Amino acid sequence: MKFGAIILATIASASAFSNPTANSHTTRNSMALNAESVPLANGSMSFNRVCREWRCKYDGDKSTSESLEAISKVLDECLPEIKKASKDITINRLVCGGCLDFKLMMTLPLADFGPWEENGFAPESDFLEKIKAIDGVSLVETQTITNMVIN
Ligand SMILES: *[C@@H]1O[C@H](CO)[C@@H](O)[C@H](O)[C@H]1NC(C)=O
Repeated sequence: MKFGAIILATIASASAFSNPTANSHTTRNSMALNAESVPLANGSMSFNRVCREWRCKYDGDKSTSESLEAISKVLDECLPEIKKASKDITINRLVCGGCLDFKLMMTLPLADFGPWEENGFAPESDFLEKIKAIDGVSLVETQTITNMVIN
């Protein structure tokens, strides 16, 4: 089962009021939860934005790394298509100079995440294929994770 489908199933069970457990959570946290939020941790947390992360390791020195520079060119190429995933997308670029991590985190409203997943997180396969081909890039991975700003 895909993550989006799990979320939609969770929303359906939480909003149908046929499930006493989900209903009590919704009631108890009515101040914290809006209609589109999905409860976590017995209702102590909720989320309505989901993140897709693409990550890898680059090599060399962060200031001069050729592999990191090549990644940035792939990103520039892909950015317009990534932005099409949602009008309300947040794109974070994370670079660690010590552990040589490069991460791109795309966070979308729940309602837009399912359709993007159905679409293969376009242009994910293209992006991953291009960075895998860069000399010095390794450990190319993806992850789906909820991502809420809480301050
Ligand atoms: C989970 O939520 C229910 C309903 O509010 C509460 O009664 C119960 O104590 C909670 N469980 C834990 C482990 O806190």
